[in-house]
Amino acid sequence: MLTTCNIVIVGGEGDLAFRKLYPALYALHRDQLLADCTKVVGFGRGRYDREGFLDNMLQWTRDSDYIDGVDEQCWERFRDRVIHFKGSATEADDLVRLKQELGDDDIVFFLSTPPTIFAPICDAMGKAGVVSEGTRLVVEKPLGFSLESFGEINDTLFKTFDEHQIYRIDHYLGKETVQNLLALRFANIFFEPLWNRNYIDHVQVTVAESVGVEGRWNYYNESGALRDMVQNHILQLVCLVAMEFPARNEADDIRDEKLKIIRCLAPIDAGNVQACTVRGQYAGGSVDNQLVNGYTDEKDTQDKHSDTETFVAIKAHIDNNRWAGVPFYLRTGKRMPNRYSEIVIQFKPVVFKFIDIDPNAINNNSLVIRLQPNEGIEMNLMNKVPGLSEEFSIQNVGLNLSFEEAFEEHRSPSAYERLLLDVTRGDQTLFMRSDELRGAWRWVDGIIDGWKTTAQRVKKYKAGAAGPDDALGLIIRDHRKWQDFE
Ligand code: BG6
Repeated sequence: MLTTCNIVIVGGEGDLAFRKLYPALYALHRDQLLADCTKVVGFGRGRYDREGFLDNMLQWTRDSDYIDGVDEQCWERFRDRVIHFKGSATEADDLVRLKQELGDDDIVFFLSTPPTIFAPICDAMGKAGVVSEGTRLVVEKPLGFSLESFGEINDTLFKTFDEHQIYRIDHYLGKETVQNLLALRFANIFFEPLWNRNYIDHVQVTVAESVGVEGRWNYYNESGALRDMVQNHILQLVCLVAMEFPARNEADDIRDEKLKIIRCLAPIDAGNVQACTVRGQYAGGSVDNQLVNGYTDEKDTQDKHSDTETFVAIKAHIDNNRWAGVPFYLRTGKRMPNRYSEIVIQFKPVVFKFIDIDPNAINNNSLVIRLQPNEGIEMNLMNKVPGLSEEFSIQNVGLNLSFEEAFEEHRSPSAYERLLLDVTRGDQTLFMRSDELRGAWRWVDGIIDGWKTTAQRVKKYKAGAAGPDDALGLIIRDHRKWQDFE
């Protein structure tokens, strides 16, 4: 059954709203996943008139990678849902006007605004009396720059909303391939017996991007790769790979298990930060055969000597019974060779080598989970090379599952479609609870303090390279190697 509620995008004339939220809402409308009475409200300052606003919405929807053409009739019906509401969400009177226009159905407020104005918005909502038990609030990163500033943002939200009303987005959790990690682990019998320190040598998580900072220099320079990608997206991936079976398929059971992993992350601080992390920053180079500027020479650069990391590699450990001693090598960066995110589970070599062959050749069972692009799963197995030669040669061959081929008939929805739909349904499974975020910030703060204390500076890497050479060193020192870029 579809839930009756209205969806209000505060900051409804902004970039995120046009690029991601309206196309996703159009897709939900087209797929008949919104109740007939649901209104989509673009709450903004009035930079556009209604026609200009709708034209922009249509243009971005047409251009979205996830929307395969916009049907005219369907769009006309979608337009009827759309209210372009001019006002300021920090003014209680404007919120009262909005409530009068929307009536009594529950409201989902999506704050697509900088967190600096969450406080006045929440105050105004409280004063205007627009918050009831069924009201939901959606917020998105950056939720703070440290444990302390996250705490301040959270306290602000808690003045007006309870935890069960707050939906903190990590858009990675909305990706199909990320949700599939749960299916892969918990719906297949053959992984679980091997999924532990007895059989797994190490895990790699790579989230590489070929883009640079894309006009967000100011934000990014404050943030850096560790806060921008590791604190949220990458730690969420680690949790899904490492967590125990949840008691039930319920939001809090799953989030409880993720939290335990975050709590078991071995601290990285001044004592071990140099051994466990590498910071990098891209210099000029070439990506996709295009010459590109270095980070400090980007158009909107404010600081030619910035020491912000655009790449980070970390060797992390999870101190629990399942994972003790198994390194998790994490890396992410901008201006890397291509857009490529994947998780590699590298198994240990077989113990009894029944035939006298190169010992390294048997070290090759791995499970590669490709998150994007070319979403799929590859299992690398050793096979005998066919032939009559005296030598018993073996070779690594991948069993390859491409989601595109396997699910030809199925469209992969965008992350925001999934997440917005779940908010309307009141399902918090794919949203981060505040204790998860607090734990993640605590761990990340330790690394940042360690960098400050030890004055660990960025190492330059050429745009188009897989990070600085030290990132290779981080893993080679342990006689292992990164999975190659495709
Ligand atoms: C965002 C980061 O959260 O995720 C960006 O702020 C990054 O810097 C983006 O580019 C990556 O998301 P995706 O879905 O393109 O992998």
